[in-house]
Amino acid sequence: MAGIRRGEPSDLAEVAAIQEASPEAARWNVSEYLQYHFWVAVHGNRIVGFLVSRNLAEGERELLNLAVAPEFRRQGVGHELLATLLAEAPGVIYLEVRASNQVARSIYKSKGFQEVGSRQGYYENPLEAAIVMKFHSC
Ligand SMILES: CC(C)(COP(=O)(O)OP(=O)(O)OC[C@H]1O[C@@H](n2cnc3c(N)ncnc32)[C@H](O)[C@@H]1OP(=O)(O)O)[C@@H](O)C(=O)NCCC(=O)NCCS
Repeated sequence: MAGIRRGEPSDLAEVAAIQEASPEAARWNVSEYLQYHFWVAVHGNRIVGFLVSRNLAEGERELLNLAVAPEFRRQGVGHELLATLLAEAPGVIYLEVRASNQVARSIYKSKGFQEVGSRQGYYENPLEAAIVMKFHSC
């Protein structure tokens, strides 16, 4: 079981390694995460996952990135990170996910996100549509 806490500058190298090992995740300069709502999952003394979101407006949040280290997947870490986001952000949460990323679409659906649209050609390398998903807390 991982513990969830806010991300700190000293976590960024491990977060970058997880992002690098997760080609399905968004590619950010990880130092930018510090200006947003940045959570990490900790197991022992390791960072095993992270989630970043930002405010769009009052009561509106966007999930920017989520990834779990490959060797810690399917153990509930993604679920815990998303549960932390849902508890922290009442209102509406939006996200985009690659159409082919069935694993992520599945976890988001299991947490109550609904698919509300798609954006053709949204992603590059490879070119692919984004599925837009929305969570409403009430
Ligand atoms: C998506 C991701 C964060 C899920 O993290 P995780 O810690 O493995 O997820 P969990 O163990 O909490 O799984 C929760 C639910 O997700 C779904 N899920 C997770 N892995 C799955 C898989 N390999 N196949 C199908 N469903 C899966 C299931 O609904 C699962 O619930 P269940 O185990 O009760 O069936 C992880 O696979 C990952 O880092 N992927 C690469 C990056 C990525 O795609 N990020 C999303 C960008 S939008």
